[in-house]
Amino acid sequence: MVHESPLSLLTCFDAVPRHAFIPAPTPLERGPLLECGARLWVKRDDLTGLGAGGNKVRKLEFLCADAIAHGARSLVTVGAAQSNHCRMTAAAGSVLGLEVHLVLSGDRPARVEGNQLLSQLFGAQLHFSGSGDHEWGALELSREAVTEQLSAQGLAPYSIPIGGSTDVGALGYARAMIELAEQCQSLGIHPRAVVHTTSSGGTHAGLVAGRALLRHAGYAVPDVIGIGVAKGVNLGRPNVAQLARAALSHIDMGHVAVHDDDVIVDPSWIGEDYAIPTTAGDDAIRWAARTGGWVLDRVYSGKGLSGLLGRAAGGEWATGDDVIFIHTGGLPSVFAADGAPLG
Ligand SMILES: Cc1ncc(COP(=O)(O)O)c(C=O)c1O
Repeated sequence: MVHESPLSLLTCFDAVPRHAFIPAPTPLERGPLLECGARLWVKRDDLTGLGAGGNKVRKLEFLCADAIAHGARSLVTVGAAQSNHCRMTAAAGSVLGLEVHLVLSGDRPARVEGNQLLSQLFGAQLHFSGSGDHEWGALELSREAVTEQLSAQGLAPYSIPIGGSTDVGALGYARAMIELAEQCQSLGIHPRAVVHTTSSGGTHAGLVAGRALLRHAGYAVPDVIGIGVAKGVNLGRPNVAQLARAALSHIDMGHVAVHDDDVIVDPSWIGEDYAIPTTAGDDAIRWAARTGGWVLDRVYSGKGLSGLLGRAAGGEWATGDDVIFIHTGGLPSVFAADGAPLG
């Protein structure tokens, strides 16, 4: 095992541009002991700052810098009706002075709420595609169509796929994994697992890439477990290991090994489908609110924590173990219709 600060690995990212939206490392909060005796820690990536925060800010640090390096004058992206990623892209565009176009599922509502309300407030233009929340293929085609229109208008669009899950975007969580390793080292803890909510896979790919860098440098590494909330991931798409390798190649670290079994996705907490609440997810939301004052949402982080709590109850960890939950955000959708469980 090595003893230097994991932060020395951040030099690996030096050749790639990054627009620093996040002012400092996000807090790693000590949570309660779980019934199994393991200690819960919460990495507060709901506090990434920009545009009400959440995981996508980390990806946007690299994506937006790439956009500017490519001379973009506008940003286009796509997501479900209550997309957090779209809302944070809208905020990034407003900071950088770039016009933002968002392709969203569904039809224009009579009154915008939650993430849509904020996206509009940040000045983004909303394009409603009429597609279902999980019709990713149709949504991506609509994004391409809007991108072509903007190109034809001379707006030099930088077009970001669903969830910002590209090799460039994934670098955000490779960096975050190193930030987290440093926090663990200074607290003197050696977590058994880092658990997070996974959907388009970029967060997961980044964490796996960061973990591979740490392992390559000789650090003991935790399991990285993604709790799936979309059937795309459940079916093995996107390929998280491949995306992690592509992210490493992007920073000339392609020689660092990523094994297929570095990627652990647990799809058993999705329920009926993406964005359809589950009893376990709602219970986790109430537990988090009443235990740590943490606000989770029904689409992502609530289901994610339900997976962690369910695995803990199943005996995966025991007294003396430390387990980290990455709180990836999702606050604004709590204020959309049916966005929070009551009582
Ligand atoms: C709150 C929240 N958590 C987790 C995720 C999943 O991240 P990824 O798409 O990188 O898998 C998202 C994606 O939109 C999200 O908004």
